[in-house]
Amino acid sequence: MSTKINLRQVVFSLSRALDLVGVDDMHHGKRVAFMAYACSQHLPMDNHERDTLIQAAMLHDCGVSNTNTHSKLVKEFDWNCSQIHCKVGEQLLSSCPVFSHLAPVIAYHHTHWKRLQDLDIPNVIERDSNLIFLVDRVDALIAQQNMPEPIMAKKIVREKIKSYRGTLFSPELVESFLKASNLSAFWLTLESEPLYDMLRGWVAGGQDQMIDFDSLRSIAQIFAKIVDAKSPFTVEHSQGVARLAKQLAHWDGQSAEVADKLELAGLLHDLGKLRIPDEILDKPDKLNEMEFSVMQGHSFESHYILKDIAGLEEVALWCSQHHEKINGSGYPFKSEGDEISRPSRILAVADVFQALAQKRPYRGSLQLEDIFTIMDNMVQSGNIDASLVNLIREHEKECYQIALFESD
Ligand SMILES: [Fe+2]
Ligand SMILES: [Fe+2]
Ligand SMILES: [Fe+2]
Repeated sequence: MSTKINLRQVVFSLSRALDLVGVDDMHHGKRVAFMAYACSQHLPMDNHERDTLIQAAMLHDCGVSNTNTHSKLVKEFDWNCSQIHCKVGEQLLSSCPVFSHLAPVIAYHHTHWKRLQDLDIPNVIERDSNLIFLVDRVDALIAQQNMPEPIMAKKIVREKIKSYRGTLFSPELVESFLKASNLSAFWLTLESEPLYDMLRGWVAGGQDQMIDFDSLRSIAQIFAKIVDAKSPFTVEHSQGVARLAKQLAHWDGQSAEVADKLELAGLLHDLGKLRIPDEILDKPDKLNEMEFSVMQGHSFESHYILKDIAGLEEVALWCSQHHEKINGSGYPFKSEGDEISRPSRILAVADVFQALAQKRPYRGSLQLEDIFTIMDNMVQSGNIDASLVNLIREHEKECYQIALFESD
């Protein structure tokens, strides 16, 4: 399966997912991308280099899955443990051929310029990673001033960045920042609406290109790993759901294309969980009503992140429906009956089965007998598809192994 995709659209949508980790401080990646772009206007760079810089800037925090790490990165100017998320991000991106060229930039995006001088890395990597570091710190400094508008922090932030010229940041990059940030438009674009407009313009200027299924899967896998890393209890959940949904599609007689797309949907279905605060996701007890309603938002968020990627419309729809119930009592749209397609039903049962087979904060891993008791009850109440539960039952041992990555 090959799909026509605008890669800029994918980066934009996926940066939305990463920005959700900020919970109440959204759009960090996008602000960093805009500021890097604005500074790049004062540097000798061609359009291709600028494009690479924007992509790296949008994805620079892909090594951050939990909200606590995110808030440390914003609240502290030079946090001791910041290198961890750089390494995680580098590893994630280097596993994906489409984005592997961005990995070295991510690796050094919290390394002081003085230290970069001792490392043997290409000038372009040094420039891009140090520029992302600089504007990333600008964003943190703005947040730390606690002002109602970013522009109110202009003077103090410019002074502080100037004071790190030649130590944390390259003198040439500090100059480019001082020129770019001299304009009030620079600060005003940091507000969410102008920011979105500016980046949507960048997306619209991107070309569609044919991407093969393996490349698409490797992109989806990056994000599945970020979501799954958010909680120790969901390690490999998305990956297990993806493998199981694909296999169920084959057994169910679906086309190879639907099976491939279901694998993508499995990898991406819980993207919206990046917005759930760690305390709710890892809570060892039952969630209260308010916490549960926050938790329920995740399938809507997954849909919101994916809906604009032309070529992945079905994947976005199936992801949005993975908590819908056939009797209409699910969420977020209360779809019912035929509104829930066969692939959506497959994804839903794969999700339930994997989650029951996997250990959770409040219980251990369930055995097949207990899993079927629960799933049969769900069928009886009209939540999930009876024929698909039977399909799992026919291949129960295999399903268990596929869901948990066990070998024979
Ligand atoms: Fe950052
Ligand atoms: Fe979910
Ligand atoms: Fe899930």
